[in-house]
Amino acid sequence: MFDLETPRLRLRPLATADLPALAEMLADPEVMRHSLRGVCDDMATRTFLDWSFDCYIKHRTGPLALMDRQDGNFVGFCGVSPERIKGAMELNLGYRLAKRYWGQGLATEAALATLEHAFSDRRLDSIVAIVESAHTASLRVVEKVGFGCFEALEFHKRAVRLYRMHRAQWQQRSVATGLIGSATPADTSVTHHPKHGKW
Ligand SMILES: CC(C)(COP(=O)(O)OP(=O)(O)OC[C@H]1O[C@@H](n2cnc3c(N)ncnc32)[C@H](O)[C@@H]1OP(=O)(O)O)[C@@H](O)C(=O)NCCC(=O)NCCS
Repeated sequence: MFDLETPRLRLRPLATADLPALAEMLADPEVMRHSLRGVCDDMATRTFLDWSFDCYIKHRTGPLALMDRQDGNFVGFCGVSPERIKGAMELNLGYRLAKRYWGQGLATEAALATLEHAFSDRRLDSIVAIVESAHTASLRVVEKVGFGCFEALEFHKRAVRLYRMHRAQWQQRSVATGLIGSATPADTSVTHHPKHGKW
């Protein structure tokens, strides 16, 4: 697996030691309001953690812990994870932050780093994002990071938007915003720290 760094966050694989902070976040009804499965108890959090480890092993991707670079505290998670949608296996951008970290641009910062790594380092072809049509903050995040076109559909009995971005679109966006061609853009600079060799 790998670590990433943004100006304010370190992204690293989740670990068993994250269980208490993760469980606290996933037990918060406001954080889980738009989640398909609702709030998680300790057992469900452990299942999520095990599924994340499985994603790392089988797919070399998955939700990464977001750590505050200043104080080392757990902020949430963000990553690209496998998801079966309309019968096909897709790679889905997901993120979830503890409430005290909302409204500071951190989800956008983490999502940009995740996409940059997925498209530029891993050279993935296509990434989707599924967002409930009523989830204004998350819709804003996906649009800020460059998702444009979407398909409206029902997913697990909820009205959602299925956004898709291809690598070429990400590259165009990166050129347009200066991510490619400038040394270290202030808002989106990403440092990549492969743990077990570069993918
Ligand atoms: C959704 C979530 C990830 C956003 O994280 P965040 O760090 O606050 O997001 P950002 O600050 O990067 O961007 C949020 C944007 O939505 C806007 N926004 C937030 N709440 C809003 C609301 N109720 N109505 C309109 N816009 C809203 C913000 O103003 C900001 O846009 P701006 O930069 O143009 O001002 C966070 O609220 C969260 O973790 N929620 C719980 C888990 C979740 O729902 N995850 C997504 C599942 S699809």
